[in-house]
Amino acid sequence: MRTTLATLQKLVDNNEKFTVLTCYDAIFAGILKNAGVDVLLVGDSLGNVLHGESTTLSVTLDDMIYHTRCVARGADKAFIMTDMPFGSYQVSPEQAFENAARIIAAGAHMVKIEGGQIMVDTVQFLTQRGIPVCAHIGLTPQSVHQLGGYKLQGNSEESAKQLLDDAKNLEKAGASLLVMEVVPAKLAKKITHALTIPTIGIGAGVDCSAQVLVLHDMLGLYSGKKPRFVKDFMAGANSIQEAVANYVVAVKTGQFPGQEHEF
Ligand code: KIV
Repeated sequence: MRTTLATLQKLVDNNEKFTVLTCYDAIFAGILKNAGVDVLLVGDSLGNVLHGESTTLSVTLDDMIYHTRCVARGADKAFIMTDMPFGSYQVSPEQAFENAARIIAAGAHMVKIEGGQIMVDTVQFLTQRGIPVCAHIGLTPQSVHQLGGYKLQGNSEESAKQLLDDAKNLEKAGASLLVMEVVPAKLAKKITHALTIPTIGIGAGVDCSAQVLVLHDMLGLYSGKKPRFVKDFMAGANSIQEAVANYVVAVKTGQFPGQEHEF
């Protein structure tokens, strides 16, 4: 059966967690779907893991469309969410709609955009015109130069309040999901409880409605230092299928993330 936004909301309303992993090609789309991953995220992290770049900033709309098509061909019943790349949605809601429409036409069921209050009008514009949106706050990698690096967000009283307000306003504007990246677990819990839409954490503690990791990271394929919030699910697994299935069980039972993965 196809996973839909309604399926995800129902899981969360029943206090069940769901799982998200990044995915960039057809083979992995089939593996992840068969292992029970609920949402495949065609993340602009492909700039890092496929292109070898140190940021996501050079990823193009054509890149995202190409990889969305690959994933859609590999798993026809999967729920596919695709990142809008840097520069493809920040100019105006109209620019965002034109580009999001191309991503949806390529096979995505939802787009993800980074940013808080500044994205509220865009979220409203897209959702009123039939394009579901996942908002993404906290550490937003497309703003890495403004943030001064990949670091913890929402760790002062003022910035925590800003993130809470952003989350509420994005939900009000029509966002159906919210990614929170690298924020204190306590804050992520507070935000999750303040919203009715599901939250998806990465480095945001166990109390989010769902978890996401970059596929290559959870398969132990990172180059350089392993981020605190990553667990290598290949360690002890006999196959990629088993590692992914273990991730699904660990998230659904609340065993991942552990305290050692949170801030
Ligand atoms: O691009 C990506 O992989 C992401 C996740 C890290 C949430 O946005």
